[in-house]
Amino acid sequence: MKLQGTMQINDKGHLEIGGCDTVELAERFGTPLYVLDEQYFRQNCRNYYRAFTEKYDGIVLYAAKTLLTLAVCRMVAEEGLSLDVVSGGELYTAKKARFPMERVYFHGNNKSAAELKLALEYKVGRIMVDNPHELQMLDRLAGEAGVRAKIMLRLTPGVEAHTHEYIKTGQIDSKFGMVIENGQAMEIIKQALALENVQLTGLHCHIGSQIFELQSYAHAAEVMLGFAAEVRRETGWQPEEMNFGGGMGIYYTAADEPQPVSKYADMLVQAVKTLAQAHDLIVPRVLVEPGRSISGPAGTTLYTVGAVKNIPGIRKYVAVDGGMGDNPRPALYQSRYEALLANRAAQQPQETVSIAGKCCESGDMLIWDIDLPTPAPGDILSVSATGAYNYSMSMNYNRLPRPAMVLVRDGAADIIVARETYDDLIRNDVVPERLGESRVVKIAGAGR
Ligand code: LLP
Repeated sequence: MKLQGTMQINDKGHLEIGGCDTVELAERFGTPLYVLDEQYFRQNCRNYYRAFTEKYDGIVLYAAKTLLTLAVCRMVAEEGLSLDVVSGGELYTAKKARFPMERVYFHGNNKSAAELKLALEYKVGRIMVDNPHELQMLDRLAGEAGVRAKIMLRLTPGVEAHTHEYIKTGQIDSKFGMVIENGQAMEIIKQALALENVQLTGLHCHIGSQIFELQSYAHAAEVMLGFAAEVRRETGWQPEEMNFGGGMGIYYTAADEPQPVSKYADMLVQAVKTLAQAHDLIVPRVLVEPGRSISGPAGTTLYTVGAVKNIPGIRKYVAVDGGMGDNPRPALYQSRYEALLANRAAQQPQETVSIAGKCCESGDMLIWDIDLPTPAPGDILSVSATGAYNYSMSMNYNRLPRPAMVLVRDGAADIIVARETYDDLIRNDVVPERLGESRVVKIAGAGR
């Protein structure tokens, strides 16, 4: 496993993150446990801030969908980034964390009237409108609220990014945004320009996630700026800002080779400048929405090894106390992860095993075929790069409580998400009167 961020192996041979011994973290907080490396998370924010904001006056929106808690909101705010939220729940979290609302951008392909009202009430910076239905609804709601909502329009540029089918979004056959190629994008821009209660400031596209080819972004810029020139010719309007979404790939395994953020920024901003000049457009401010590349590498999940089942000549299954409940990505996208035994981090691998989760589902396999020192019950397994789309996509399948999350830094560990309890699991359950206890006893009795 590649050691990332503040990870190191201490003199006990234990994995350390943020100056904290992960074996001690597992003992103190229990497992499964999400560990977030504060310094690394902040460093990733800073890399973006420097590359886009300091150098080019661009705006970096942290994609909340990757990982959002109140504490995470505070860090993002402190690092000077803006926030991309996609639901009333994320919006509410930002508000409760006292995130500056003018730095919030509200996305989503099917925002409800209630969510749009909340966004207007909170006075978010921009609403990223996805479709004509939303545009009309927003215009009406903004009118009722007596405000003019600043909006950007989400477009589908038809750019193919080389990534997993379920996480690519820029192609034409997509549920997101309005297609440029068939005229729908031009149509919605004209509609937006004709409305009184919305003010169109710019255009948006997002071509996919876990992308390594910077060329895909240059291609998106070409399509978007080319289209902006067409829009100006037809309507006289041109975008002041252009948002190119997120998507930068991260290191999960040795097969992944992430690009430096500075290279991405230079390439994208340069492409936008050159294209704007070529099309005789004002140079729009560049916005980006990275998520995975900020939170992903900064997260690690600790598990305790339980049953080890050897099927001679076939496979050794090493079961841990979590799985698809806290990390559904392997089951959903066949994602690969690296791992090590945190309590024996300096030992050389001895055999190839497969890590199984504890859900009642054959597909709940965290890692197929990984080389480890022979695992035994009680070992602490550490899986790296789990900061993005793990906690945020976690679930209670099999009524497994969701893990706690600790923020580690300089030897200190603070809970930022408490471990769910069994009582949390039944908190929203309601037993109707007609299924009251006396009745259940009667039915049970009748069966005997
Ligand atoms: N902006 C928009 C409009 C997006 O749809 C996304 C991700 C992002 C920004 C952030 O992209 P990032 O920098 O994180 O790649 N659950 C999947 C990924 C889904 C991506 C959704 N959109 C996974 O676990 O791989």
